[in-house]
Amino acid sequence: MNNITGKKLYIGSIKLEMPVLMAPLSGYTDSATRSILRNFGAPLTFPGVMLSKSAANPKILRKPEYQPQPCEKPVGAQILGAEPKIMAEAAAGLEKSGFDLIDINFACPAPKVLRRGRGGYMLRDPQSVREVFLAVRNAIKVPLTVKLRIGYGEGEESRRAFWEIMDFFAQNPPELTVIHGRTTLQKYGGKADWHLIAEAKKRYPHLKIAGSGDIFSVEDIISRLEQTGIDGILVARGAIGNPWIFRDAAAVFRGEAKPQPPSVQEQGRVMIEHVSLLRKVFDPCKSVRYFRKFSARYCKLHPHRKRPQTALMAAKNMDDFLSAIKTHYGVEPNTDSDL
Ligand SMILES: Cc1cc2nc3c(=O)[nH]c(=O)nc-3n(C[C@H](O)[C@H](O)[C@H](O)COP(=O)(O)O)c2cc1C
Repeated sequence: MNNITGKKLYIGSIKLEMPVLMAPLSGYTDSATRSILRNFGAPLTFPGVMLSKSAANPKILRKPEYQPQPCEKPVGAQILGAEPKIMAEAAAGLEKSGFDLIDINFACPAPKVLRRGRGGYMLRDPQSVREVFLAVRNAIKVPLTVKLRIGYGEGEESRRAFWEIMDFFAQNPPELTVIHGRTTLQKYGGKADWHLIAEAKKRYPHLKIAGSGDIFSVEDIISRLEQTGIDGILVARGAIGNPWIFRDAAAVFRGEAKPQPPSVQEQGRVMIEHVSLLRKVFDPCKSVRYFRKFSARYCKLHPHRKRPQTALMAAKNMDDFLSAIKTHYGVEPNTDSDL
């Protein structure tokens, strides 16, 4: 028993069995990958961020990627945009489609997003954050969360704007405030600053805060929770090719010991399952090509990382993929598998 055993996270009416969620990751958190992560214990997942302009368009909103699957509840939708009215329409449309919560992205650092004054750019302008937040708040009944960074840049002006935005959230609390401990200009480089995240929780103890940045193991999860006193943690890059991070976290939050690392055979079986789920989203060759960015990460767990990685990176079709898995992981698909 320790002080994190049994810790839960409530996001409005949504109860998470542990205070650890899967971050939205554009290009990675597709429905197949979300399903793998959920099976390993991720209590909440998100597709990658959606443009409000698209989600507010009824024709685009009907596309499968904008519709949650019945088996994946609870699932959140994250939206991006600077126009309060369009953001409100997008949020209402996604709520109607069945998403269980709406998250507003004030964090994206992509150049094309910044050029349009959206995402992480909005941290320069607290008024635009307030307007978008209040418009979305009034448009939906499901829990509303926000994701922001510790400022646009390093300077004093950026820091002042960050605290002004946090003061606003303290007075108009979202159901969860997620802070990524990097600035917008830092993108994904350097180290996340968890002191500022801790400082935010100290200044606003009643605000429910989750932190994000450099979480690669269950030990990182526990130490960041304990050091900062925040309410929850987001796993992001640390779950790519390592869904076991959620299995480990679930065990530790139940008060059990951290499980043994997965055997090579288990790694191979999960990779086959992952590709078999992707196969339902993409055609077979596309699934294998798309999976390369995941296999590069899965291979980090293999004792001879380079060999399977070279074979999997060269795989062009399902036969190549299965043959590489058989050679390097010693497993084959079940006879009833879709592959
Ligand atoms: C490839 C990639 C895609 C991302 N996509 C999103 C996104 O769609 N929405 C979002 O809020 N954050 C996104 N992020 C940021 C992550 O959610 C997370 O906050 C960030 O990676 C810091 O955590 P980490 O250092 O543990 O990876 C993305 C990050 C990466 C690397």
